[in-house]
Amino acid sequence: MVVRGVHPAPVEIPDAVHALAGWYVGWGSVTPVWRNDLGGLTFRLEGAPLLPGPDTGSRPARYLKWVPAGAPCPDPFAEAGRLSWARRFAVVPKVIDVGRGDDGAWLLTEELRGTSAIEPRWRGRPRAAAHAIGEGLRLLHDTAPVADCPFTWTPAARTAALPAEARAAVGRPPAVDRLVVCHGDACVPNTLLHDDGTFAAHVDLGELGVADRWSDLAVASRSVARRFQDPQLVTEFFAAYGIAPDPDRIEYYRRLWDVVERHRTRLWR
Ligand SMILES: Nc1ncnc2c1ncn2[C@@H]1O[C@H](COP(=O)(O)OP(=O)(O)O)[C@@H](O)[C@H]1O
Ligand SMILES: [Mg+2]
Repeated sequence: MVVRGVHPAPVEIPDAVHALAGWYVGWGSVTPVWRNDLGGLTFRLEGAPLLPGPDTGSRPARYLKWVPAGAPCPDPFAEAGRLSWARRFAVVPKVIDVGRGDDGAWLLTEELRGTSAIEPRWRGRPRAAAHAIGEGLRLLHDTAPVADCPFTWTPAARTAALPAEARAAVGRPPAVDRLVVCHGDACVPNTLLHDDGTFAAHVDLGELGVADRWSDLAVASRSVARRFQDPQLVTEFFAAYGIAPDPDRIEYYRRLWDVVERHRTRLWR
């Protein structure tokens, strides 16, 4: 097994990941691709072909998400359940395995086609990326059936574990505009795009659940604005989704997001 790549900063491969990767890919390669702010790591695993020559025994690459014990990231088992449900209605990673040990828990999925909209190549085509993010979110909201969805992501569910003063800081939610199956972490890095700039897939669905569509729209539009540093692109995002910005709901759902994240980060550090 070869460990490749230390981008964007050196990554220490947890012992458990080393062991898992050895089990899953033998003498293939392991490339760290992502580190989130809450201790979670994602690796791309590529199996080595069993025999040299064209395509003998090669398998699709896989992604291994690792969540250390105690990290306030969504639990890999929660994500696996949501992915398995959502796969009937949307292009999302196919779960191969999920597990837990003393050091943490992991999720293994099959590689999807497409590249994350956070990849540097999309900085040169930000308009296409903003459009595809809006389009992809609309597709999920229009396609995944609320009545069939066993998961919830309402403000009440998200604030249930917060201390009273944090809940008070969030305030009361605005009336629901439209209940949909929300992504739960709709942001630039969690959208994959095809090479031609069209929407390809959603990843990172550990919080998918039924909620007002503005729960996703508020944070996705902010992510587009921050990533591409161009207010025009937020307009492009909303146009691709097919909705006019709703300032009150946007403000509420961004505040809710920030209070929940602040609380999580405090738990972790
Ligand atoms: N099955 C997959 N196929 C392709 N890319 C993936 C897959 N799973 C994860 N990724 C890539 O890894 C990154 C990190 O995975 P993600 O689930 O978003 O982890 P985190 O919860 O730490 O943000 C994603 O932004 C995406 O680029
Ligand atoms: Mg992510």
